[in-house]
Amino acid sequence: MKIKHIVESQQFTVPLILELFERTDLMKKVVARGGTKDYEKKVMASLFYKPSTRTRFSFESAMYRLGGRILSTEQAKEFSSEVKGELLEDTIQIVANYCDAIVLRHHEEGGAQRAAAISPVPIINAGDGSGGQHPTQGLLDLYTIYNECHALDGLSVAIIGALDQGRTARSLAYLLSKFERIKLYFIAPDELQIKPDILEHLDEKGVSYQLSSNTDDIISKVDVVYQTRIDKERLKHKEIDLTKYNIDTNVLKKMKYNSIIMHPLPRSVEINPAVDGDPRAAYFRQARNGLYVRMALLTMLFDKE
Ligand code: CP
Repeated sequence: MKIKHIVESQQFTVPLILELFERTDLMKKVVARGGTKDYEKKVMASLFYKPSTRTRFSFESAMYRLGGRILSTEQAKEFSSEVKGELLEDTIQIVANYCDAIVLRHHEEGGAQRAAAISPVPIINAGDGSGGQHPTQGLLDLYTIYNECHALDGLSVAIIGALDQGRTARSLAYLLSKFERIKLYFIAPDELQIKPDILEHLDEKGVSYQLSSNTDDIISKVDVVYQTRIDKERLKHKEIDLTKYNIDTNVLKKMKYNSIIMHPLPRSVEINPAVDGDPRAAYFRQARNGLYVRMALLTMLFDKE
């Protein structure tokens, strides 16, 4: 199956997702045997205008383990020619001369779309703006759910946090909407709830969902708790008690024995480290899956040439 750029989750059909998961399983084996040299002629540029630990390092590690090489800038907002006023479109056309794919985290929503519109090499959206998408995170999240829950159809998933600007929450919601009998719970302070475009999409797809401002009635019924950060600074109503969204060992007691807790990370206070030792805490396994899924995505882009 062919894809040129990875800009948003909606691009991924169920057959494409299943192909990606097959390749991801293969990549686990490739890493276990020390990597491959199959892509030694390929060069990937990582162009990050915003800070990142997981996405940048996992893409760069993915490229090394495929035998390829990387071009990287630590903070493109400071160390690229944007400081001299260069347009994103110009930067992309220049960098594309030197590589076979560009992994782009841009500070403006729609940045990846703009880059893809003019780039001769694949653009991979590594997160755009505050309320855009982070499709490769969504895909590794979906892969983690598939691996841990051994299913995608019929799952109930609680997505918690500042969802209005939750790139990962948005990308995951689009992906889950492709499967059967999914039930989504969006749990956030009212002023930070998921945006209407996602709800309109779920309505079109006939996906069942519920909005809530607290976890109490929901946490005990779901298969997946997808936790994200809420920054107090973003609240207009500072009196809202954010601790009610946190997961600690008391919340664990209410959860199903076979449920999982996920988080795209980095976390702040919303998951107590005392939870880390519980087998349901899947967030570090989820981050590890980022390496395998990103290796698989790079091969899908390179193999189509
Ligand atoms: N999950 C995620 O995107 O993390 P980074 O910001 O560290 O890349």
